[in-house]
Amino acid sequence: MNFEVAPLPYAKDALEPVMKQETLEFHYEKHHKGYMTRLKSLIEGKPEADKSLVELIRSSSGGVFNNAAQVYNHTFYWDGMKPSGGGAPPAGDVADLINGLGGWEKFRTDFVAAGAARFGSGYVWLVLDGGKGKILDTPNAETPLTTGQVPLLTADVWEHAYYLDHRNNRIGFLEAFCDKLVNWEFVAKNLRSAK
Ligand SMILES: [Fe+2]
Repeated sequence: MNFEVAPLPYAKDALEPVMKQETLEFHYEKHHKGYMTRLKSLIEGKPEADKSLVELIRSSSGGVFNNAAQVYNHTFYWDGMKPSGGGAPPAGDVADLINGLGGWEKFRTDFVAAGAARFGSGYVWLVLDGGKGKILDTPNAETPLTTGQVPLLTADVWEHAYYLDHRNNRIGFLEAFCDKLVNWEFVAKNLRSAK
């Protein structure tokens, strides 16, 4: 595998004022790249190093799994945001999927509630599960890649994701994510790939 994290899909100040440049500098440069540095130290020169990141996540445990999954989850999180994003999805397959979950307002309420209810660190996800949309939350580095579901969107609810912007207000962070950051084109691309 390639031991470099993917570049951010936007400049570090592109999500201002919703998400501070300082947040991206710490979260991407220190946390995300830190997981890759630890993963590299665990597997470089070993047979696992020849696997893709997804293969590694699906076949490992312990520290290798935790760091590999965190590398994947963070890239997925970055790609699911964009400047001036969020709000209800435009008409199309994604809007149909969201309508299947009760519509945009209900989705927003349920997505925020799932992320808020996740005790400690983890992620809240929109996934495709048996062909239908589903909201779920996962602890720590866990990812739907290992449970047969197709990830469509995620929000990182580790405190490092929101503390510089929202302090301890995780709900405020998740509402801002839904209203101003979600990249629905990314969700649509993942949905197309799953079919
Ligand atoms: Fe994170």
